[in-house]
Parts: sequence; structure tokens; C-alpha cells
Amino acid sequence: MGEDAGLLSKSKGWRIVCINCGKEAETERPDSKCKYCGDLLEVSISAKLEARALFEGRGPGIWRFGAALPFNSGTTPISLGEGGTPLVRLENVGGGLGLVNLYAKNDGQNPTGSFKDRGMTVAVTRAKALGVRALVCASTGNTAASLAAYGAKAGIKTVVVVPKNGVASGKLGQAFSYGARVFGVGGSFDDALRLVLDLVKVDKGFYLVNSLNPFRIEGQKVAAFEIYEQLGRVPDFLVLPVGNAGNISAIWKGFKELRANGITRSVPKMIGVQAEGAAPLAKAFVSRRKLEPLKEPHTVASAIKIGNPVSWKKALRAIEESGGTALTVSDDEIMKARSELGALEGLLVEAASAAPFAALRKLKFQKSVNVVCVATGNGLKDLADHRSEQTIESVDSARSIVASIGSAEAGCGP
Ligand code: F0G
Repeated sequence: MGEDAGLLSKSKGWRIVCINCGKEAETERPDSKCKYCGDLLEVSISAKLEARALFEGRGPGIWRFGAALPFNSGTTPISLGEGGTPLVRLENVGGGLGLVNLYAKNDGQNPTGSFKDRGMTVAVTRAKALGVRALVCASTGNTAASLAAYGAKAGIKTVVVVPKNGVASGKLGQAFSYGARVFGVGGSFDDALRLVLDLVKVDKGFYLVNSLNPFRIEGQKVAAFEIYEQLGRVPDFLVLPVGNAGNISAIWKGFKELRANGITRSVPKMIGVQAEGAAPLAKAFVSRRKLEPLKEPHTVASAIKIGNPVSWKKALRAIEESGGTALTVSDDEIMKARSELGALEGLLVEAASAAPFAALRKLKFQKSVNVVCVATGNGLKDLADHRSEQTIESVDSARSIVASIGSAEAGCGP
């Protein structure tokens, strides 16, 4: 690693500290864990954030918020134009649920089609400064695609490890197309993560970019700044799917930084949604106990098929401190919500990303509260629609088919 890998200077206005014992990490750890107690590390920004500096920053997407990111001002980002995704009001789905202020933060519009790009631009920029030899991650698919793309842009080799036969083909195709070396392991994401954690310990040339990496979290926290700016206020509820539990921790960190700097007065209630067959965090929240890892998680939403979420402590803290909750939805509920978003809103999300929308029916919100669901991944990634198009042989047959559509739906229109 290069010269920047040594002491992290306090004069930069940020430090890397342990979330448990609070001790500072003096050097960057290969496994992103505290050398004293083994818990997770996070970036602590000690510089005061001013609203003007934060919201009037220049540059595209997340680098606009450079004042809140752990870099010197001269850093050149490894960027593909991530962040700055639309906040879309969902009148139709909201109307059906009796919610007048329902929104989707459409992170499927990031360069590789998921929220992972927000964190990856920051982690890979850091890795480039450190001069690492290769970048590595375990993944259910989206992190792999994102890492592969940013590694390609940075000119650094990438290695991704996925659960064999457990990743949507669109995501695997992305990783290959961006030039990653792709490996499959038997078992689940949790087995893949264990393997890469062992790998970075024995080979220091590899830089780990799973969400344990505190720089990933820094990029992802920016979603909170954008949502606050786009909505013009702090939402009452922030609902998102939970897998390895990095994103809920990251967005919570963003909202907390806004409040700590006096930019906002409130924070949203954070609501984590898991699939019934892969819900260790929701179970820990409900039972008020320590997380018990699940050996064989199962769900149609492969992105969140995770039994041992690495950031569970941070996530539980986010939910508890904010007064939020965690709940589960069934695979059928997920697929139904996904269809509704497509057919009623023109919003195509991947299965995991439909989980928060599926949860809305169970959450019993009051009519006028502001609810933002994070649409974490693009539906094109795992689209397997086996219906086939109807054949049209001539203009006449086209006209009669179109006319029959019109008459079948007569009375439904305005
Ligand atoms: N939604 C999508 C589309 C995801 O890909 C993931 C995680 C999540 C939600 C959950 O986010 O892990 O921060 O709680 N995907 C990871 C991956 C695990 O490897 O792509 P989380």
C-alpha cells in the first residue's frame, strides 16, 4: 500500500473509530475491524458541517457533498456519476394505501443500477490513494457489479466471490462485463464473506470493499442528504430492505450528522424490512436479543438472502435510536409489490427492492405522514418475465387488437 496507508491524521477533520470500544484505528485494517475488540469501525467526522458548504457544493452526485466525506479537498474521485437519483412521488400506489406523501428514492438509477455505487465511488477512491493491488468483495450480486465497474475505472484488478448459482444473471453478467474475476462458493453470501475476510488477512494487497469498509458507509450516507434536500424536510419514516445491514446504518448516519450539525432538528424513524426466510435482524429486534445467525437463509429476493448480517449492531442501533421498527414480508408479498410498482407507477425494481413497498400494508401509517422507501436496485437486473408478445401480422390485425383492448377497458378510463 502507498504512503497514505499509515497514520490517519486527525488534522483532516475525520478519524476511523471502533463502534464498540471507541478506540481509534491508527492504520487501516484489511478486514475493517477494530484491532482491540474486533468490532466494526466507522468514520467519525469531527469537522463542523455548515448547511451552506454541504448543500452548495459543486460536482456531480455524491461528490457534491465532499465537505462531509473523509478526503482532502485535492482528491480526484473515481466516479461514474453516481448519486443524485430521483425522489419520485408515488400517487397511485400511495392512493391505494391511503398515503398521500409516499415517495421512492430511485437508487436503481445509479450507474450500475443499485445504491452500491454511492459507497463504491468512495471506497475505490480511497483504495486508489492507498495504492492497493486488487479490490475484493463477497456479494449477492450488486456489490460485485459495482466493484467491478469502479475497479475498471480506477484501473485496479477486481475479484468478486458470490454464492454459486445464487446470483441474478444480470448482475453476474455485469461483473464479467466490467472485467472482474468471478468466483462462486457453495453455501450462502455468509460463506462467501467469511472466505474474503480470511483472504484479506493473509494477503495484504487485497482491499476489502464490503460494507464493513467504513468508506463505503460514508458514500451511502449521502442518500440522507439528498432525500432531505429533495423532500424539503426530513421524512417521518424511511423504509428500506435489509440484507447485510450496511445501508440502513449508512442512511441513519447521514441523518444523524445533519441533526448533530444543527442543519435539521429531527430524524426519520428507520424501518428495516427483511424477507421471512432471511430475517435474523427482524427477529433480533422483536425478541430484543442479540442477533442469532441463520444457517440457511432463503428468499426469492436473492440480494437480501443473508443469514448473518455483519452490520447488525449498527442497524439495531439505528432502528432503536430512531424509534423505528423491523418487520418481515413473504416472498409472495414481495413479488406482488414489485408488479404493482411496475404496473401502477412505471417503476421497475428488483425483488429485494420491492420489500419495503410490500411492508407498507403492514405498517398502518397515518394518511399524511411523509414516507420514503428506498428503491435499492434496478428491476432489469433480475427480470425473468416468461410471457411472450402477441403476434401482429398486419395493420388491420393490429387495429382490431388495439380496438379490443380499448373496449375491454371501456369504463375504466376518464
Ligand atoms: N437491496 C439490494 C438491491 C441489495 O443488493 C442489497 C444488498 C440490499 C438491498 C441490502 O443492503 O446489505 O446494506 O443491508 N446487497 C449486497 C450485495 C449484500 O452483495 O450486493 P444491505
